[in-house]
Amino acid sequence: MNQTSRDGFTSSFGVLVATLGSAVGLGNIWKFPSLTGANGGAGFLLVYLLATLLVGLPVMIVETMLGRAARANAVSAFDRVAPRRQWWWKSIGWMGFAAALLILAFYSEVAGWVYAYVFKAMAGQIATTDRQVAGAVFAELVANPLSSLLWQWVVLAVTGSIIMFGVARGIEAVTRRLMPLLFILLLVLCARSLTLPGASAGLSFLFSPDLAKITPAVVLTALGLAFFKLSIGMGCMLTYGSYFRDNQNIPLTATRVMFADLSVSLLAGMAIFPAVFAFGFEPAAGPSLVFMTIPAVFTAMPGGTLFMTLFFILTAIASVGAMLSLLEVPVAILSERFGLGRKRASLTTIAAVAALGVPAALSSSLTSDLKVLAMNPFDLFDFLSSNVLLPLGGIMVCLFVGWVYGLPEMARQLSNDGALRNQRLVSVVFLLVRFVAPLSIAAVLLHGLKLF
Ligand code: PFF
Repeated sequence: MNQTSRDGFTSSFGVLVATLGSAVGLGNIWKFPSLTGANGGAGFLLVYLLATLLVGLPVMIVETMLGRAARANAVSAFDRVAPRRQWWWKSIGWMGFAAALLILAFYSEVAGWVYAYVFKAMAGQIATTDRQVAGAVFAELVANPLSSLLWQWVVLAVTGSIIMFGVARGIEAVTRRLMPLLFILLLVLCARSLTLPGASAGLSFLFSPDLAKITPAVVLTALGLAFFKLSIGMGCMLTYGSYFRDNQNIPLTATRVMFADLSVSLLAGMAIFPAVFAFGFEPAAGPSLVFMTIPAVFTAMPGGTLFMTLFFILTAIASVGAMLSLLEVPVAILSERFGLGRKRASLTTIAAVAALGVPAALSSSLTSDLKVLAMNPFDLFDFLSSNVLLPLGGIMVCLFVGWVYGLPEMARQLSNDGALRNQRLVSVVFLLVRFVAPLSIAAVLLHGLKLF
């Protein structure tokens, strides 16, 4: 085990910011609004909140706990904590490895759009409230194979060069300063968006649920989003947990991250949906939603170009924190299990993502007709990771902790060897991961995939 690569987090605040840096990302600003819009609004939000509280939070707690107990990457961790070393538990780590690469393949593309929009915003090319114009600008960007690939490579070059130096240095220090700025800017945006004429239609879309719109497929998507948002079900929180300090209060940290992450999503939703309705955009526009509405909101306010540029810069930064945590999963596995140096492990991972990223980046141009399960590569990678691999990983983590690892060891770990008085809380989390979470994830998966 290469201990020198485990720089680890240096303070309790460092742990919180790094973990929040993994959770907060394009998931809040891009995925949450587009999925909420495409799946009918408030009903989807309600299911997503339930999934986050009843399944997401407990899984996040136990996954982080396993990482800290093992102090190893997502695969090797199970060598250490599985008593009889049953090989299949290690598949959780390998599934996480695959999921990380799939997510990175499309995530880096969306981050590429964000980078491109920084420059478009500065140049004043997206200063419009006209949805035809806004739509055309976005369509032109994604339909150009060369610029799609180039922006993706820029993103990979930036994140790849940071990950080589480890997790704690570099971007973590940057996000620590810029995360509050993201909050402030979102608040400004919300204030502007909520005072637009016609804003209330957006709010009722977001907050008054129409239960008829909740189908099994919608529930599966909401569950998938809960996993994606909290970076769980794929060894990412486990890997981060392995860098936690011994005296970190894991349940408290996870709860704080969950609430902070939810607030960012809700703020993004409150910035976007009023504008959608005020300017006549289509809430179900999908991935392009944020790229059309955010410019519209800013264009309608003084100093719009500056705010718009800042917004995309901060979104780009938020995406970097999340991407670093995604990269860390394969990088830690490659460097610790295969003895690759940090640098070679990083380069190998980036190369793999760049290769997988080609079909994803070209999904609106050359590979748009390459359909598997009626989805282009971009949508397929997203679907396979969020709606299949992450929930499956989540079930396995729950079964492992609930039925193999057991309550006594879990109570010892989560109370930091008895230093924290949280037995009751731990028993509730234990019941959730032993029964409630695995059964509900399994039911949602089977129904949502129409296997049952
Ligand atoms: N949670 C990140 C976001 O919402 O943008 C994305 C993500 C990061 C997913 C890390 C999974 C992961 F392991």
